[in-house]
Amino acid sequence: MKFFIDTAELAEIEDFAATGLLDGVTTNPSLIHKAGGDFFETIERICQIVPGPVSAEVTATKADSMIEEGKRLANIASNIAVKVPLTWDGLKACRVLSQAGTMVNVTLCFSAAQALLAAKAGATFISPFVGRLDDIGQDGMALIDEIVTIYANYPGTLETDILVASIRDPIHLVEAAKLGADVATLPPAVLRKLVRHPLTDQGLDAFLADWEKTGQSILS
Ligand code: E4P
Repeated sequence: MKFFIDTAELAEIEDFAATGLLDGVTTNPSLIHKAGGDFFETIERICQIVPGPVSAEVTATKADSMIEEGKRLANIASNIAVKVPLTWDGLKACRVLSQAGTMVNVTLCFSAAQALLAAKAGATFISPFVGRLDDIGQDGMALIDEIVTIYANYPGTLETDILVASIRDPIHLVEAAKLGADVATLPPAVLRKLVRHPLTDQGLDAFLADWEKTGQSILS
């Protein structure tokens, strides 16, 4: 499973990229607003930090303008994935951009039917938002299960990667991995939580205390 980071904060991206465990980045207009910098400079810098796919979202709502914006975004770097919303115009733009060889991430997916459409439109990634479905009392992970099943029914035809988005906690990640989703995009706060376990901390403290008592050193 690939791990993307869901942020436009450069310091966070640099920090996690240094682990060698980051496969890509997703941004959206809200994350760009939160990070506060110039959009183009931010995206260009992210593409330098992380060699994997970096999603940058169009803001036009008509297909022709989305395509123009998408081409401009794709010119920033070769690892740009143009993000388009799951509308008819977004799907048209997805088709044109993907046929031109640009990676496309179709975002704001909330149903299996939408995911099927995005795959038929040639999306590189489909982004189902599990947390936002959970927020309205629906089962976000059930949607991932449906999409995995549908795409698996058409090997060689529906080749879109399932990018689980709107992840709120490590349980979402583990459930998505159990279902075989291709990618998870994780907010920095969730990424940070993945490594933590109280028994790991307690165990390490005990090992280090006992090692100290031996009076020995590995490097000297
Ligand atoms: C994905 O690409 C989106 O940027 C993101 O996962 C949305 O998450 P949210 O529901 O926490 O805003």
